[in-house]
Amino acid sequence: MRTICVMNHKGGVGKTTTAINLAAGLSRKDKKILLVDLDPQGNIDLSLQARAQYNIYDAMTGKVPLQQCIVHLAQNFDVISSTESLTKAEYYLYNQKESKMLLKELLGTITGYDFIILDCPPSLGILNQNALAFCKEVFVPTSADFLGFDALKKMKVIVTKINESYNNNCCITKVIPTMYDRRSKICRQTMEEIRTEFNGQVSLPIRVNSKVKEAPKYGKSIFAYAKSSPGAEDYGKLVEEVVAMNITNVR
Ligand SMILES: Nc1ncnc2c1ncn2[C@@H]1O[C@H](COP(=O)(O)OP(=O)(O)OP(=O)(O)O)[C@@H](O)[C@H]1O
Ligand SMILES: [Mg+2]
Repeated sequence: MRTICVMNHKGGVGKTTTAINLAAGLSRKDKKILLVDLDPQGNIDLSLQARAQYNIYDAMTGKVPLQQCIVHLAQNFDVISSTESLTKAEYYLYNQKESKMLLKELLGTITGYDFIILDCPPSLGILNQNALAFCKEVFVPTSADFLGFDALKKMKVIVTKINESYNNNCCITKVIPTMYDRRSKICRQTMEEIRTEFNGQVSLPIRVNSKVKEAPKYGKSIFAYAKSSPGAEDYGKLVEEVVAMNITNVR
C-alpha cells in the first residue's frame, strides 16, 4: 500500500484538485483508493458530493471508529471527508501526549487499499506534521513561478526536519507543476529550474484549463466531467507516471 500526502504549505497551488483527480484516475486504473481530506476547508466532500455523515475529526476525537467515516463513492474509490470542525483538531491535538502520531495510529489500522492519498491544508501545523509522520511519500503540487519555486525548496527542508523528529523516511517522490501556461516566460523558466533542482521527480506539467476549475461544481473528477479536455489528458499522464513509479518506500 502506498501512502501519499499531497502537500504544499503555499495556498492555492492545486493540492485538492490534484488529490481528487489523481485518486479518481487511479481508481479507474483498477487501483483501490482511499482519499482522506485533512483540510478544514472541507473541499473534497463538496467537490465530490460525498455527503459524509462523519468526518476525520470525529475519528480523531474518538466520537466514532474510523471505518464509520469512510464513504464509498465509486468503484475502487472511498473517501474520508473533513469539515471546518477540523480547525479544532489543532487545539485538541496540542493537548494530546502523542499529538503527531494520532493519524498514524488511526490510518495505520486500515488495510485493503493500493493507495491512501491525503489532501493536506496549506499550513505547517500539527495536522500536516501528522500527515508526514504517517505517509511514506509526499507529492508537491507547485505553481511554476518565483514564489512557487521558493515554497517548493522550503518543502524539501520541512520534510527532512519532520523525518528527523519522527524517525520516518518520508520522501518527496513527485513534484507536480500545476496551472502551467506555456506562453508565459516565467512558467517556462521556472519549470527548467524545478527540473534542475528536483531531477527525476518532476511530473509533466498540468496545464491551466477551465474544465479543471468547473468540474467540482458538478461534483465530478475531470475524467467524469470532461474526459477529452487537456486537464483530463494531463492528469491521465500523471496517473500513468504514478503507477509506473518504482517505489521501495512503501508501508
Ligand atoms: N489546472 C488548472 N487549471 C485551472 N484552474 C485550476 C487548475 N488547477 C487548479 N485550479 C483552480 O485553482 C484553484 C486552487 O486550486 P486548489 O483548491 O486545488 O488548490 P489548493 O492548493 O488545494 O488550495 P488550498 O491551499 O486553499 O487548499 C481552484 O479554483 C481550482 O479550481
Ligand atoms: Mg486544498
